[in-house]
Amino acid sequence: MNARWTPSSWRSFPAKHIPADYPDAGALAAVEAELRALPPLVFAGEARRLTAELAAVAEGRAFLLQGGDCAESFKEFAADNIRDTFRLILQMAVVLTFAGGKPVVKVGRMAGQFGKPRSSPVEVKDGVELPSYRGDNINGMGFTPEERIPDPQRLLKAYGQSASTLNLLRAFATGGYADLHNVHRWTLGFVEGSPQGARYRELSEKISETLSFIDAIGVNSQSHPTLHQVEIFTSQEPLLLGYEEALTRVDSTSGDWYDTSAHLLWIGERTRQLDGAHVNFAQGVKNPIGVKVGPTVEPDELIRLIDALNPDNVPGRLTLYGRFGSDKIEGRLPALMAATKREGRSVVWAIDPMHGNTLTASTGYKTRPFDRILSEVRSFIEIANATGVHPGGVHLEMTGQNVTECTGGARALSDVDLADRYHTHCDPRLNADQALELAFLVAEKLKSDRQAPSQAAE
Ligand code: TRP
Ligand code: MN
Repeated sequence: MNARWTPSSWRSFPAKHIPADYPDAGALAAVEAELRALPPLVFAGEARRLTAELAAVAEGRAFLLQGGDCAESFKEFAADNIRDTFRLILQMAVVLTFAGGKPVVKVGRMAGQFGKPRSSPVEVKDGVELPSYRGDNINGMGFTPEERIPDPQRLLKAYGQSASTLNLLRAFATGGYADLHNVHRWTLGFVEGSPQGARYRELSEKISETLSFIDAIGVNSQSHPTLHQVEIFTSQEPLLLGYEEALTRVDSTSGDWYDTSAHLLWIGERTRQLDGAHVNFAQGVKNPIGVKVGPTVEPDELIRLIDALNPDNVPGRLTLYGRFGSDKIEGRLPALMAATKREGRSVVWAIDPMHGNTLTASTGYKTRPFDRILSEVRSFIEIANATGVHPGGVHLEMTGQNVTECTGGARALSDVDLADRYHTHCDPRLNADQALELAFLVAEKLKSDRQAPSQAAE
């Protein structure tokens, strides 16, 4: 990045999806000044470690598991929710590590994922038009003119909630909860009776057996802290660049800029314009960066984007998340993957099988059929294998809560069932049952590929 970049450079580029209608610009500036004085949420050294772990993913030696709410909310903020999503990540990570025989890099879509780009700036209900809800860090969900006014105080509240979420995650990750000896305790109540619950129990028995064997030969949680703890990283889409700017700090060890709002930041499908503010901002910070890659991206455009964000071709710096839809992935992904391989660009190729598979159910709910989600993941792995690229990871919208937001899965949720527990503030999420089922399927696929690598793979 050129030497003139600063955390505020983005302000001279066109910025999409950043609200321009704060009624009091002075109040917003005051909040940003307040944020500038607050402690960082994450540390540069942690972000560097994540880059190194993602480099292992890029090189085919590890797998990325990233997941959490579409958007966090102030209302659903509770210790139990954080714990439940965290333990779902642990369960899925165990399944994937066991089958894939490779470390799993665990990244929460948590502790800062508030903003949501909207397809329309306004919402119309019964003939009344109001500004759209844009995420709890901007305005309120209630359909009243007052709620929909952007309020800068919400940024401080989002910062505070992110800090407490991170604090709890760090405690869970290192305080004993994530100890592998607890593997059978992570099952969520409502999953116990399901087919996934039974499969998971079988797996946890195998792991417990292995642990007592290695314990007998002197390998235990005291002698090997890796058994006792995990590292959980955080990620979010840095939509509100004023907030990100305020949390961007110079790392005293390296002299580089880091956005300390989260470890990994991804640029969405709607804000990845080469000459746009979001790309400019991401260019200057050293965090690992992600980009969503949808069905309209052409290979040459992708290479330009890669070169803008990772000019030195640093492994682990850049993760690409395909999000095409199960019906489009076969037509779009092969050329893109082939291009990154042919041009020798080091990237993590991951799949977001959620955002290309959204539709409206017959009962009016916005949903995602589980079959399509699975189908896109399967296609992703097959295309990667055929291209000789490592299918590096999955990015999911999921929750440990027993919601009914995506149809299908082993319990065959129907359009009608969606009404039971449809709680999302944003997009439909996999529930724990569905997420675990997906982890088992990905695990099986990784395992069969490990045993019989395809011809093209290296
Ligand atoms: N520390 C290792 C890891 O993160 C092993 C481990 C400990 C683990 N607890 C875990 C793996 C829980 C998955 C889930 O991979
Ligand atoms: Mn979403």
